Amino acid sequence: MTAQESKIQKVALVTGAARGIGLATARLFIEEGWLVAVLDRDADELQKAAADLGQAVSPFVCDVSDPAAVDRIIADVLSRFGRIDALVNNAGVADFGPIEQTDFARWRQVMETNLDGVFLMSQAVIPALKETRGALVNIASISGLRASTLRVAYGTSKAAVIHLTKQQAAELGEYGIRANCVCPGPVRTKLAMAVHTQDIIDAYHDAIPLNRYGTEREIAEVIVFLCSERASFVTGQVIASDGGFESTGVGLPALRS
Ligand SMILES: NC(=O)c1ccc[n+]([C@@H]2O[C@H](COP(=O)([O-])OP(=O)(O)OC[C@H]3O[C@@H](n4cnc5c(N)ncnc54)[C@H](O)[C@@H]3O)[C@@H](O)[C@H]2O)c1
Repeated sequence: MTAQESKIQKVALVTGAARGIGLATARLFIEEGWLVAVLDRDADELQKAAADLGQAVSPFVCDVSDPAAVDRIIADVLSRFGRIDALVNNAGVADFGPIEQTDFARWRQVMETNLDGVFLMSQAVIPALKETRGALVNIASISGLRASTLRVAYGTSKAAVIHLTKQQAAELGEYGIRANCVCPGPVRTKLAMAVHTQDIIDAYHDAIPLNRYGTEREIAEVIVFLCSERASFVTGQVIASDGGFESTGVGLPALRS
């Protein structure tokens, strides 16, 4: 049942919603009849996105890695909408580099947003989700499912998000709160294009059974499904929306040629 069908105007909070996968997710929620709090630390992009999305959204400027700011913004979202039915922890940063060139500052910069941000936002929203028996969806990555080169910080942060999701599902189920994790494969967003060289792009095409990058909308479809009543008995799951990348081993490019 969509929010429209159930006649309750449900509210989703989507982080990193100024562009990319977060923006596509906000758009799909609106299509399904939800109200959406769009949150990002990039105030200019967020204002543009919110203006484009129309009346069902309100923008909230916040850095998800700042504990005090997170608490303040959740209070603002609740005073604007009165409820939160779903939190999508999508805000993320990518920094690809060799282990030996990844110093503590680079490591912390990735962890602050990708892991601390998911923890902080979730902790702050739990009381509201208890009221609505709502849903958490955390965005990890195929880089959290399998190790690869250059991803010591990014891949480790995403693997931690996968485990954090299972922890949340284990402890919050008794309140009716579901927690699931989506692991996108490569999508041509600003984040990905900043770190995907042509070699990486070619390697992904080779390693993915569907032989292409995904779209923001294809990832959003999985996220919104997991937040909806259609997924009411689904929790603690890790779902790769990745063109089949996770399911394959060696030999695919050789078999194709
Ligand atoms: N694009 C891909 O190929 C891909 C693959 C796997 C996983 N992911 C994950 O999907 C999520 C979305 O990525 P995207 O590709 O749409 O990226 P993007 O860079 O297009 O969008 C990310 C948004 O998050 C915001 N953001 C970053 N740090 C923030 C912070 N600390 N507080 C608030 N907002 C912050 C940015 O301003 C930006 O608007 C990320 O978690 C990313 O790791 C992306």
